[in-house]
Amino acid sequence: MSEKLQGQVAVVTGAAQGLGYAIAKAYVGEGMKVALLDIRGDILQEVAAELKDAGGDALPITVDLSDAGDTQAAIDAVLAQYGTPRALVHNAALLITRSMLEITLEQWQREINIILQAAFILSKAVWKPMIDAGGGSIVYLSSGSGYKGFIEEVAYNPGKHGIEGLMKCLALEGAEHNIAVNAATPGAPINTPMSDSNYTEAQKKRWVDPAMLAPAFVMLAEQDGSGLTGHRVAARADGKWDAIDLL
Ligand SMILES: NC(=O)c1ccc[n+]([C@@H]2O[C@H](COP(=O)([O-])OP(=O)(O)OC[C@H]3O[C@@H](n4cnc5c(N)ncnc54)[C@H](O)[C@@H]3O)[C@@H](O)[C@H]2O)c1
Repeated sequence: MSEKLQGQVAVVTGAAQGLGYAIAKAYVGEGMKVALLDIRGDILQEVAAELKDAGGDALPITVDLSDAGDTQAAIDAVLAQYGTPRALVHNAALLITRSMLEITLEQWQREINIILQAAFILSKAVWKPMIDAGGGSIVYLSSGSGYKGFIEEVAYNPGKHGIEGLMKCLALEGAEHNIAVNAATPGAPINTPMSDSNYTEAQKKRWVDPAMLAPAFVMLAEQDGSGLTGHRVAARADGKWDAIDLL
């Protein structure tokens, strides 16, 4: 177990399945208390029960992260029940491929809000508490879509570009407060429900279990302003990672 993380609080969004579930499980393994935020309340209860059965401390909170008020209420509940998090990992996202001709403003806003608006609200809520606590670590899940363009990603793509921009600003502002802010991206295709809906059969042949990427997220949770910050970190399937300095 990590001495830095044991007994500390983590918030993981999109924790009901896929990569978020793998990150939450790894944090419980490090002895952290983990707040699990997801819209899938049914699965979330099962995940929390599984983590508790394994001796962990988990707090399931059902939330629609596309909704500002719901998101604020969820993070307020975490702060009230667990106190200040050592780590916030905003991993939830929605990718529905639609062309510019097809997409409506409402659909566009929903994807953008889950990715970018929620990143802002969650980070704003923990920012002052983290300063008062002497530091912390914030991680946003990015993607190849955070720096390259892809067709039919009219919402997801600018959302991922947006969180990389927010990450760079907050990494600079967080330095004096000992807060690390990084973006992370899977350095390998991962076997998750999102991939199942969007990957080609060729990509599915080389996808990996998201649990193999978890060590990079343990390393990221351990960071503060004196460590790795302002980077895009690609979590690799061999348990290591590649970090690109974006500041
Ligand atoms: N799958 C990949 O290969 C891949 C590649 C690059 C980046 N990513 C990023 O990794 C992260 C995790 O991806 P994944 O493949 O595990 O995705 P996933 O779709 O399997 O899981 C996403 C989770 O977010 C939750 N979620 C969706 N909308 C929500 C909402 N409105 N409110 C609350 N929760 C909501 C879902 O219920 C789900 O549990 C995402 O940010 C994704 O963009 C994934």
